[in-house]
Amino acid sequence: MIATEILKIDPQRPDSRSIARAARVIRRGGLVAFPTETVYGLGADALSIKAVKSLFKAKGRPADNPLIVHISSMDDLDRLVVQIPDKARLLMDRFWPGPLTLILKKSEAVPNVTTAGLDTVGIRMPNHPIAKLLIQYANTPVAAPSANISGSPSPTKFEHVFKDLYGKIHMIIDGGSTYYGVESTVVDVTVDPPAVLRPGAIPLEAIRRVVGKVSVNRFGREGELRSHQTPKSPGLKYKHYAPKTKLIVVEGALDKVQSRITELIRVFTKSGLRVGVLAMRGAYAHGIVRRVGNGTFPSIARDLYSGLRDLDNMGLDVIIAEGIRARGLGWTIMDRLRRASGGNIIKVS
Ligand code: TXA
Ligand code: MG
Repeated sequence: MIATEILKIDPQRPDSRSIARAARVIRRGGLVAFPTETVYGLGADALSIKAVKSLFKAKGRPADNPLIVHISSMDDLDRLVVQIPDKARLLMDRFWPGPLTLILKKSEAVPNVTTAGLDTVGIRMPNHPIAKLLIQYANTPVAAPSANISGSPSPTKFEHVFKDLYGKIHMIIDGGSTYYGVESTVVDVTVDPPAVLRPGAIPLEAIRRVVGKVSVNRFGREGELRSHQTPKSPGLKYKHYAPKTKLIVVEGALDKVQSRITELIRVFTKSGLRVGVLAMRGAYAHGIVRRVGNGTFPSIARDLYSGLRDLDNMGLDVIIAEGIRARGLGWTIMDRLRRASGGNIIKVS
């Protein structure tokens, strides 16, 4: 058990003494959870082998899943990578700082533990006042996976981080809710056309507008669990974002989805099971309904992991999630739900 210090920082007016205090913990090889515009991250000095190893341990993360290295200015970039292709430049100009991670050829400066032995490194420049200042004050690139126990839904609120990591890390910065609620979009720019390895807060269509053609990972597009495939992004092979409760996703046209879910609630309830519904647009008269968002994709994304966590804490036997149209941010939302379900997907038409 580690004594975890909790530090409340107002993202609107981040107190520089508090930020400096958190930055010192990172400088000394410690672990600090902090808010970003996507989800909370668990930060460690990306260049310290020891710090990165302890980060993997705290999260229970498999050692073959590489970390994203966070920077606060373009000056940080040169020592971390050996080459920046033109299309990478275009994406950086358009989306940094922001929820985009670029996979680039790594330099010697980045330890192998950080990249799980790959010769590439994921780099992101976050756009959140606390994250930006923390990295700047730490004066070192900060490796930061989502601040959850490996496999569970990413944290979008301080309370989520607290539940997963209190007693396992040195500090948690409470900076309120994150903005997007889903992780950064991961784009591999070491290949041409660039490959979208993980859909995220920046929709696929927006990436295409900047670089034209991109290739898309099959898993992400179809949401199928293909355990025999070797994914380009090692993180993609694990069951992810998942509640402990069994999760079923029902996909299709809204009216069909709604009637199938209503039917499932009836059947499950009749056999004595406690059913929860993660609802986005439909209406349900029975079961325990947790509505996420107010109907728009951004609002659903922002509330998605909270919704999953809330239902997971209610001692239910099964959660049924309503599918939505997998376009734009909807694709990211569906990618997460499909993975969280471990392949329990019902398609209705
Ligand atoms: O929004 C985000 O990206 C958040 C915040 C904290 O910045 N971070 C995050 O990190 O989601 P994590 O570790 O939960 O997810 C990182 C993903 C994994 O799927 C990992 O496999 C992939 O990025 N990744 C990292 N480095 C890679 C590399 N060199 N090649 C391919 N995939 C990589
Ligand atoms: Mg994660």
